[in-house]
Amino acid sequence: MAVRINCSIQNTLCLLNPPLFSVRYRASPPKLKSQLHRRAFFCTCATTASTPQNAEPYVLTTPLYYVNAPPHMGSAYTTIAADAIARFQRLLGKKVIFITGTDEHGEKIATAAMAQGSTPPDHCNLISQSYKTLWKDLDISYDKFIRTTDRKHEAIVREFYSRVLANGDIYRADYEGLYCVNCEEYKDDKELIDNNCCPVHLKPCVSRKEDNYFFALSKYQSALEETLNKNPNFVQPSFRLNEVQSWIKSGLRDFSISRASVDWGIPVPDDKTQTIYVWFDALLGYISALSNDQEELDLLRTVSSGWPATLHLIGKDILRFHAVYWPAMLMSAGLSLPKMVFGHGFLTKDGMKMGKSLGNTLEPNDLVNKFGTDAVRYFFLREVEFGNDGDYSEERFINIVNAHLANTIGNLLNRTLGLLKKNCQSVLVVDSTTAAEGNAFKDNVENLVDKARIHYENLSLSSACEAVLEIGNAGNSYMDQRAPWSLFKQGGTAAEAAAKDLVIILETVRIIALALFPVTPSLSWRIYAQLGYSRDQFDATTWRDTKWGGLKGGQVMAQPKPVFARIENQTEVEDDMGVAIGKTVKSKGKKLKQAQEVAGA
Ligand code: MSP
Repeated sequence: MAVRINCSIQNTLCLLNPPLFSVRYRASPPKLKSQLHRRAFFCTCATTASTPQNAEPYVLTTPLYYVNAPPHMGSAYTTIAADAIARFQRLLGKKVIFITGTDEHGEKIATAAMAQGSTPPDHCNLISQSYKTLWKDLDISYDKFIRTTDRKHEAIVREFYSRVLANGDIYRADYEGLYCVNCEEYKDDKELIDNNCCPVHLKPCVSRKEDNYFFALSKYQSALEETLNKNPNFVQPSFRLNEVQSWIKSGLRDFSISRASVDWGIPVPDDKTQTIYVWFDALLGYISALSNDQEELDLLRTVSSGWPATLHLIGKDILRFHAVYWPAMLMSAGLSLPKMVFGHGFLTKDGMKMGKSLGNTLEPNDLVNKFGTDAVRYFFLREVEFGNDGDYSEERFINIVNAHLANTIGNLLNRTLGLLKKNCQSVLVVDSTTAAEGNAFKDNVENLVDKARIHYENLSLSSACEAVLEIGNAGNSYMDQRAPWSLFKQGGTAAEAAAKDLVIILETVRIIALALFPVTPSLSWRIYAQLGYSRDQFDATTWRDTKWGGLKGGQVMAQPKPVFARIENQTEVEDDMGVAIGKTVKSKGKKLKQAQEVAGA
């Protein structure tokens, strides 16, 4: 396929004269507002984590999702992972700005609106809202939701475009190539599979010829190489760095940043016949999201509210945009680069990327209704090693969730509370510190919590879950070895030791609840409520409260109720004769969800 670029440099607009990327418009420290979601004052242990007033915020982003169709489990996956990271960072006492949102311009969206018999604005409102609703159902604690059709965003994009233009990095040219509308990207011949099909969407690319504005990406080749050499952690997981480096090494080509054929977009400043390319528009959402109100339409003021981002969390299919195009665009505009881009793998179905274009998606709403939010969050974060692909199977989902959440954790709590109720009137006899004096079990728990912390910090979410589950396994083994139920029967000092054992196990479950909070926030709260804590106390806990010693003597536990009901996928159906016959049916999702809500009430 011939690719023809005809340059007629059009850099007459030199308004702001920003210097090149050596200048950093690093923010004066953002003012700390009270933390929206939780944390920092109440602490059950000796030291309290708090956020220093001038600490840099932890700015975390998900991709801005296309609104061509409602969200599916693949889109939910990135957001659940981001939420777990945001919650963990808040537990550490960091001021977190968790950004998500929707990418609403471009041909793909306009076509989807038309196919629905709707207009682009109405269609965008509808689908954008469906994302917000799903995030609520999945307990996503985002701080900012940016829509690329927000007025403040459009103003930021225009200003950014003008800065890049003023820096001499935008020129006009003809372009002819093969375009994948689903990727919203021109493709190289060598990337395509049979019949000029896009390898991700398996649909033929269409031939396009346009007169567009181009961004001089090639100018940034050595600057990008240098950035990656100096800071190899910029791209994570590390195996994705090689991929990015080889793209750069193979030579960077300028790319077109406007469309003459697309009306549904932000007009190019000073040329109303073209709209800005969706990626050149959407990436800016990471900055415009930081703007505090509708009036703050100024790029540098917005940048001072938290840029650069600490972490862009994305799927591996959009790595090139984030690890090559975006840094070059920022350099051109004289802005700081994000600190890290993490490209996770795909959720697959039968080995194929789950996606709207292939129509092989899994409905997150169905899963939440059937199994509850904690189960969905836990399964995907525990089962899929973060960074790699992972396949979904309902059978595996039910097995994992039942084994880990219902049995190892929920049941441990429930049977301990049952014993405490029967033998100690649901009151703890001593502080957990006293109960565990000289007991190596406590050290084991503390080591595992530390392991979980390190995994969370390294974004190894599955390993973090595994470390927490190991605590649960250790708790169950301790319970079985000590057999407090028979010690109680012996009475005297044996019964006193049993009462202490119960405190030790409940303290263990408390620590599990907190350490798993980033992944299963509702379950963690239900556990805390069973342990006699108020919502305010729970909301004020920090990671430091994972230290042994939270539960105090005299604390009264709630009535034992299952905090996580097993998911049944086998129902015993009685025939007319009253004889039970085993029949496999779908799990009773709604009922399960209700049961868990009641248990948590
Ligand atoms: N709009 C762009 C992103 C712009 S960011 C400035 C986009 N949108 S998307 O809706 O197509 O994809 C959003 C994210 O969802 C991507 O990170 C993509 O990798 C992720 N996923 C979509 N399907 C997925 C799976 N099946 N599995 C895991 N993540 C997947 O790209």
